[in-house]
Amino acid sequence: MRAAVLREIGGETLEIVDDVTVGELGPTDVKVDIKATGVCHSDLHAMKGDLPQGAPFVPGHEGAGVVSEVGSAVTRLSVGDHVVVAWSPPCGQCVACVDQKSPHLCIMIQFAIAGVPRFKEGGTDLFGMAGTGTFAEQLIVPQEAAIKIDDDVPFEIASLIGCGVTTGVGAAINTAKVEPGSTCVVFGCGGVGISVIQGCRVAGAAAIVAVDLNDEKLEMAKRFGATHSVKPDGLDALKGEVTGMAGGFDYAFEAIGLPQTVRAAYDAVRRGGTAIVVGVGNMGQTVEFNMFELFFQEKTLKGSYYGSADVRSDFNRFLRLWKAGKLDLEGMISQRITLDDVNDAIQKMKRGEVIRSVIEL
Ligand code: APR
Ligand code: ZN
Ligand code: ZN
Repeated sequence: MRAAVLREIGGETLEIVDDVTVGELGPTDVKVDIKATGVCHSDLHAMKGDLPQGAPFVPGHEGAGVVSEVGSAVTRLSVGDHVVVAWSPPCGQCVACVDQKSPHLCIMIQFAIAGVPRFKEGGTDLFGMAGTGTFAEQLIVPQEAAIKIDDDVPFEIASLIGCGVTTGVGAAINTAKVEPGSTCVVFGCGGVGISVIQGCRVAGAAAIVAVDLNDEKLEMAKRFGATHSVKPDGLDALKGEVTGMAGGFDYAFEAIGLPQTVRAAYDAVRRGGTAIVVGVGNMGQTVEFNMFELFFQEKTLKGSYYGSADVRSDFNRFLRLWKAGKLDLEGMISQRITLDDVNDAIQKMKRGEVIRSVIEL
């Protein structure tokens, strides 16, 4: 089958190869024929080494498709089921899943699959991005990592649910729990940031300010619910205008992954406000806070991992919001491409030109 392969971490270009095979189907695994997969900035983070990742590997972690084979002990899925791939599914039994009621923080399955090659190319083992690897025509995952959805959802829409939409909408609804009437600012208007904006809108935010370097993105953000948009250097003035006596936003979301924008998100919220870090940064980078502000400002700085979502229920919850016309997912697809154009899509993402490129397989 065809797949895109990165030979070594730090490499810039994916090679499109024809002779990749999937590994063996274990008793609790399912084989998924991938039909659509989004290109997410985290793929680039894995390629660059910001995210720990074995190599060579097949990138892609935002995918949807059809179950084409099930292992002998699979109980949850049947051949023909339409599914969204979850790159960090809960095992349902561990301390994080049960005692801490944080299924999104379960690492049992992800740790088990990320370290095991998912594919072969001739005699060479290939890892998959975060244990998945959706830039391939087929993929084997544990049954927990394939979430059944309705058959009438187009695959390109379903694919976005697998990462960007869940990460962004979940950050607003699950992690921050934005209340009606809140004021929000969102740094970064890629697929994740646009999803945060939509999540804030669904939650009933009164003001949603979009921040990006790219003028087109700022214009686009308004289609998804941003009430204002501004380049980083104009934010301070706009903050005063929008939040007035409150002195800052109730919620700030960083959806880029840079130290300076995490710092800016912390600065943008009012005393007692909450800054949420959604973007993925490099382990070598740090953000500074002074001792006085940490105490005096009483702000909350909180990470958001996979939208703090329980993929078992949230994937379909977000699809219900899409069906009800409350999430615009069609509008997030900037271009539909084939696997051959994946490198061009990555370049466009690097330049901040697209919300999402979706590869149709
Ligand atoms: N200030 C403001 N906007 C910026 C800046 C900056 N310094 N640098 C980049 N941007 C904008 C880009 O113009 C682009 O619109 O941030 C946006 C990032 O979008 P994408 O590259 O499409 O990334 P996305 O897939 O949305 O992911 C964003 O969330 O889950 C994480 O790993 C992901 O770290 C990544 C982040
Ligand atoms: Zn678990
Ligand atoms: Zn992603």
